[in-house]
Amino acid sequence: MIGGVCIVTLIEHKICDYLIEHNVNLMNDWRKNMIFSEHDPFKEEVMRNGEAIFTFLLSYIREDVDVESVKSMAYKIAKERAEAESNIGDFVYNANVARTALFKRLYDFNMTIVDLQPVINKMNMCFDQFIYYVVGQYSEIINKDLEAKNKFIDETHKERLTILGQMSASFVHEFRNPLTSVMGFIKLLKADRPDTPYLDIISHELQQLNFRISQFLLVSKKDLSMEQEDFSLNELIYHIIEFLYPTLLDTNVLVTYDFQKEISVRGTRSELRQVILNILLNSVDALEVHKDNKIIVIDIDETDKEVCVIIKNNGPVIPPDKIETIFEPFVTTKTYGTGIGLFVCKQIVQKHNGSITCTSSDENTSFEIILRK
Ligand SMILES: Nc1ncnc2c1ncn2[C@@H]1O[C@H](COP(=O)(O)OP(=O)(O)OP(=O)(O)O)[C@@H](O)[C@H]1O
Ligand SMILES: [Mg+2]
Repeated sequence: MIGGVCIVTLIEHKICDYLIEHNVNLMNDWRKNMIFSEHDPFKEEVMRNGEAIFTFLLSYIREDVDVESVKSMAYKIAKERAEAESNIGDFVYNANVARTALFKRLYDFNMTIVDLQPVINKMNMCFDQFIYYVVGQYSEIINKDLEAKNKFIDETHKERLTILGQMSASFVHEFRNPLTSVMGFIKLLKADRPDTPYLDIISHELQQLNFRISQFLLVSKKDLSMEQEDFSLNELIYHIIEFLYPTLLDTNVLVTYDFQKEISVRGTRSELRQVILNILLNSVDALEVHKDNKIIVIDIDETDKEVCVIIKNNGPVIPPDKIETIFEPFVTTKTYGTGIGLFVCKQIVQKHNGSITCTSSDENTSFEIILRK
């Protein structure tokens, strides 16, 4: 259509009449060569669609096509193809078989290619647009379907993880009660019979176990709000080092610090203990590769706005690509590691309105905790 005027040549009218006359032969030609599945639930529809496309083609050539009805026909086909779970490539192939069958008929007119070119262009345009609409809509339907399936899988997976989390939390919880009572009786025994051998070792191992269990409980009950208090950071660190003394002795690790002043922090003491203990235990593990000269340095400092704790060790470097992930849950390089130590640290520090970062070089690996006041 040019300037609202239809330019449909006499040849085009003739061709349309001829195609209508040979409609049955054309359809048979198409059916013979098309790809078709016997199990296609829309078998009958496919044939009817072919006829509808033929009618659209004629209106295309006569330039009285209604684009909206072409689109809705294309969408109907796309929906059927998606529901039939057929390969959209088969549809494109079949459309091209129809295109070839039509072009073959044009030979009957015994005309030059120059005369036939305008009608060939219109036919190509009609097929290309139709294929474009069908394939576009088909992809959209399939993608939506995939999204819905993925969402369903995600939700089911999350649900299972939640159940698993709840199961382990309750299991760990049940475990802690007898453990607390055993720890209490060991204390009593120690008071009653201070000379009984191995009590210190038993007590220390039980405390380690208790620490592990608390770690799991912290992960499973993230929002458990515990009491906040003001306490001395220096003292907390002294106690932790004291607690770790047997481990440090056993692994030949030296912990050094030179606290210049007393620093007080506000927070949950047991949680911040967990953070520092986790980092120290990781440092001891990292230093395992060295025979001697295993050193951990602890620094504390404060400004008006924040308190800073730096824990450094001279162990091997953490590669830059790994350093990004160490605070994620279940990231571990250890045979018996769970990979939740640093994840718990980050959760606790963030809960205390702070941040935790790690830098690592050939000389040392350093963890910096900032707690905003
Ligand atoms: N100081 C460190 N030096 C070198 N690598 C470290 C250090 N601290 C942590 N990492 C690396 O980060 C990983 C994750 O540490 P994280 O404490 O979260 O888990 P884990 O120690 O492996 O297991 P666990 O749950 O028992 O603590 C470790 O497996 C280790 O590869
Ligand atoms: Mg750890």
